[in-house]
Amino acid sequence: MSIRYYEEEQRFVLETRNSVYQMKIDRTGCLRHLYYGRSVGSADMNYLYRTTDRGFSGNPYEFQDDRGCSFDVMPQEYSTYGVGDYRAAALRCTAENGSRSTDLRYESHNYKEGKYILEGLPYVRENSGTVDTLTIKLKDPVTNVAAWLEYGVFEEKDVITRTARICNESQDAVMIEKAASVCLDFPYGVSEMISFSGRHCMERQPFRQKLGQNCVSVGSKRGMSSHHNNPFVILCNDETTEDTGDAYGVMLMYSGSHKEEVEKDQAGNVRVVAGIQEEGFCWKLEPGEAFQTPETILTYSGSGLNGLSSNYHRIIRENVIDQKFRGKRSPVLLNSWEASYFDFDEKSIYDLAVQARELGTEMLVLDDGWFGARNDDHAGLGDWYVNENKLKGGLAQLSEKIHDLGLQFGLWVEPEMVNENSDLYRTHPDWALKDPGRNPNVARNQLVLDMSREDVREYLFSCIDRLLREIRIDYMKWDFNRSVANAYSAQLPPEREGEVLHRFVLGTYSLLEKIRCAYPDLLIEGCAGGGGRFDAGMLFYTPQIWCSDNTDAVSRLRIQEGTSYGYPVCTMGSHVSASPNHQTRRNTPISTRGIVASSGALGYELDPSTLSPEEKDEIRKQIAQYQEDYSLVHEGTYYRLHEKASGTSTVCWQFVSADRNEALLNLAAESVAPNTPFPHVRMKGLKENAVYTIRETGQQISGAALMYGGYSFDILAGDYPCVQLHLAAAAD
Ligand code: GLA
Repeated sequence: MSIRYYEEEQRFVLETRNSVYQMKIDRTGCLRHLYYGRSVGSADMNYLYRTTDRGFSGNPYEFQDDRGCSFDVMPQEYSTYGVGDYRAAALRCTAENGSRSTDLRYESHNYKEGKYILEGLPYVRENSGTVDTLTIKLKDPVTNVAAWLEYGVFEEKDVITRTARICNESQDAVMIEKAASVCLDFPYGVSEMISFSGRHCMERQPFRQKLGQNCVSVGSKRGMSSHHNNPFVILCNDETTEDTGDAYGVMLMYSGSHKEEVEKDQAGNVRVVAGIQEEGFCWKLEPGEAFQTPETILTYSGSGLNGLSSNYHRIIRENVIDQKFRGKRSPVLLNSWEASYFDFDEKSIYDLAVQARELGTEMLVLDDGWFGARNDDHAGLGDWYVNENKLKGGLAQLSEKIHDLGLQFGLWVEPEMVNENSDLYRTHPDWALKDPGRNPNVARNQLVLDMSREDVREYLFSCIDRLLREIRIDYMKWDFNRSVANAYSAQLPPEREGEVLHRFVLGTYSLLEKIRCAYPDLLIEGCAGGGGRFDAGMLFYTPQIWCSDNTDAVSRLRIQEGTSYGYPVCTMGSHVSASPNHQTRRNTPISTRGIVASSGALGYELDPSTLSPEEKDEIRKQIAQYQEDYSLVHEGTYYRLHEKASGTSTVCWQFVSADRNEALLNLAAESVAPNTPFPHVRMKGLKENAVYTIRETGQQISGAALMYGGYSFDILAGDYPCVQLHLAAAAD
């Protein structure tokens, strides 16, 4: 059992292979956080808990004589607002009498083998390996608001999940204004944070900053996890590198508006509070009701950021993604979007499929434009029936013809959206989110459907169900092309309007779950204008997500590298597109585009009729190579490598198979310069004593030499070159 409780000291110890998490109930029933970090055996970390009288930091009533004890500096498991902790609160509620303070004290706990699950929200699944659950109940004896803190300990995976359920055990309604999923205090050892910010077409760029005595807050108010700030932060210190030092990950399993606050207090303690975005949020909890916060995935790595990424890659592959899709190569697809945008008909799509087959792809995906009156982005969203003007014989027939070519068929949908110019909106204008008496904010000419409504969800399910019943569809791309605004539901009473954004997310999850249960073999690729909803919550339902609308291979180097800090490559939809690229107008070699896209769920998104015979040949080879290297890339260990010797800008990454007999190394140049030093990298994760044969050069070099002496490449020249080395050792 990975969970222990020391009765005498009232201390909890959660232990994973390489980490320990400790908490303690103090003599007044407050639950103090003691330690999270590298394994320390059975040491009671309470000795690190020091107190001193810090001015203007008041004391809980029971501690009047002990001025050192203050909520304001004490490491807490789940901080609350209003009772003397002036740092970020995890919980803030208002009681019926207007009191806004909450003071949680220990009431009970239990632990058991196995993992708790959440109703209506995504969660890390138990699947393989040992998992134990600790539940601690805290309660405010005055307001009778209780918080059930749950901890899932994934022993072999070095992961601890956390969530909090807030229950109203009083006789009156309570308004929850903030309920975070996690509060984590670090008295020592954390001085920097890394967040993943970006924008449409340039998502998840790591931003590392030193913490000052302030509160840094990142997040999204867009009703989606967003292109702008991923619901994931890393805490570390100035000694942490890719391969050494402490790193802590806090990843929310949530796809809506979120907030991560990292605050350093007067005493140098660092606190992270992460959960649903509180701005605009308010949830009315009637007596006896409970509010479930989303789950957080925590991990600790003592071997730097690569170690932390490995922990996340493993847990997402093995415990977040539906295991039906784990390790199963998704078909290499050709997507119609950048090939023809809205401009197609039945014949041109069929021709595209014929060419897709000739290239060696395995599925034709018909993107936006096939439904309703959809000829551009002004109309049609919501009308999920085929546009027979464009596709005369209908979709069922087209899909059959494509299947007859030996290809699978995929279809694009954007269920949560509606155009004003649609039959759906004309029939149900109240189904869109909008404020009474105010023109709604529009984006891409579309409004957002009120997913909190059951009738909306039922309509959408019936549309998707009909498509899936009537047409042979092997894959769906589920898009979401705007941020949410005017989050007002025509169906909810005024005092519940603060619930809309969260109910929206719950509505989407429940629709996805219903589809998953009805069509368990259907592969859904998530998408939100590229990677605007790339999060562990969506990955629970959609095992891969379109990583970015930017398909430029050089931009993708940084987008995919940034994404790799938290998410494995198998989750990243990644396509080879035309040159010059449609987003950046940059020209890149087809080989570079192939190598970059092959480090993800590979697809093509171009018009094959514009390709030369040589390029077509190259694509056929790329696909064969991708299929051959699939398990090495998608199931292997991923490493970010840094090449600094050449003085040019390069991105380097490596995969190593589980038995460490095989590796694949990619080095790509963002720029080149004449007469530079030889690009040089030290490889990682190899066996010291094994001798590896390099496929591309025939060289035979030991693992120790490649890792400690490194490897030097030819000087990079030309437009955006990318070099790949495949290493194989004789099996043991
Ligand atoms: C979004 C997606 C694109 C494409 C378009 C279609 O932007 O990210 O890949 O599907 O929508 O409108």
